[in-house]
Amino acid sequence: MNFSLSEEQKLIKQAAKDFAKQQLLPTILERDELQKFPKEEIEKLSELGFMGMMVAPEFGGSGLDTLSYVLAMEEISKVDASTSVIMSVNNSLVCWGLEKFGNQDQKEKYLKPLASGKKIGAFCLSEPEAGSDATSQKTTAIDQGDHYLLNGTKNWITNGSSASTYLVMAQTDVAKGHKGINTFIVEKDSPGFTVGPKENKLGIRSSDTHTLIFDQVKVPKENRIGADGFGFTFAMKTLSGGRIGIAAQALGIAAGAYELALDYAKQREAFGKPIGGHQAVAFKLAQMHTKIEAARQLVYKAAWEKDQGLNYDLSSAMAKLNASEVAMWASVEAVQIFGGNGFVKEYHVERLMRDAKITQIYEGTSEIQQLVISRAILQE
Ligand code: CAA
Repeated sequence: MNFSLSEEQKLIKQAAKDFAKQQLLPTILERDELQKFPKEEIEKLSELGFMGMMVAPEFGGSGLDTLSYVLAMEEISKVDASTSVIMSVNNSLVCWGLEKFGNQDQKEKYLKPLASGKKIGAFCLSEPEAGSDATSQKTTAIDQGDHYLLNGTKNWITNGSSASTYLVMAQTDVAKGHKGINTFIVEKDSPGFTVGPKENKLGIRSSDTHTLIFDQVKVPKENRIGADGFGFTFAMKTLSGGRIGIAAQALGIAAGAYELALDYAKQREAFGKPIGGHQAVAFKLAQMHTKIEAARQLVYKAAWEKDQGLNYDLSSAMAKLNASEVAMWASVEAVQIFGGNGFVKEYHVERLMRDAKITQIYEGTSEIQQLVISRAILQE
């Protein structure tokens, strides 16, 4: 077993850490307060090659492994989980799916600008009545010969207004259930496509989350991904990798909250000594450090399995379930260590606590992860 990072992975981690400190930290409080999308920050992230990290260079990506992507996600999420979800959706839900399952023309036309960060992508599976129950798609795509006519509404879509390219799941044959679902590439300027209201969220407030409306949108036949009926498998396989990205995000939130709390515990004095000198705080830090390190091992192992070409459905679900629970718990503990200051925005830990909550919900709730895990282990 080798637990060390390669020189390249260490460089990626350091680059992400520096970027988070220099480019994200100075603007995060204002962006969180105003729900402002990090447009310039994402442009700079693209220059680093972080919007298409795992995509082959021939399609505009950085050609890195999943572990490098996880390291970057972790460092960026320590400071700004809004920026990291934008990055995660583009990398693992949009670029990865297009590279793995798209055809050459689709990769040339759509993947290249997405992987280089010139454009941003969105993954549109959830609907008002199909969140966890993703097979219950109500959006339809009716075959009209040379095109499909798309009708329906998608909900809680990350990058909803900032994206230019949307991967949309829709039912082409209701009688076939999930085998009648297809995934389509939809361009933003398609007539009949409207970006609906923006959600006013508890956390990751600097990312843009929208309802999307499709009203008689013409989608060319060549924009369907894979064979007829492949759309649900596409969504599930893509989400399996996406969950590694969100697990890394959760890990970063937990580690970010812990690092802030550790520094604070060394500086803040009460009863004549630094609060870290009191067992009540010291033991909290010991628990946080241990649980975060354990979460890190599960996340890195899922990334390693993916890079080895192994099946990672189970490990990605376990990594996400565990890391998101640790993120929620550790960020609450961090607020407690900060006391009154923890309740104040300038100290950052209350934001990390608000951001942590979504990691237990999106890309499959903790309950869905337990469903995936229990089904897998009971089948073994
Ligand atoms: N890979 C390939 N195929 C898979 C799969 C996987 N990982 N998981 C399931 N499938 C297949 C099954 O084999 C089955 O196909 P067959 O009938 O041919 O065998 C089909 O998918 C349906 O699976 P189930 O019978 O298990 O269906 P179910 O309804 O009982 O459960 C579910 C499905 C696992 C609950 C699924 O609906 C699910 O994952 N739900 C959560 C959805 C989700 O994660 N949404 C996130 C939205 S995107 C987002 O959040 C992005 C963002 O903004 C950050």
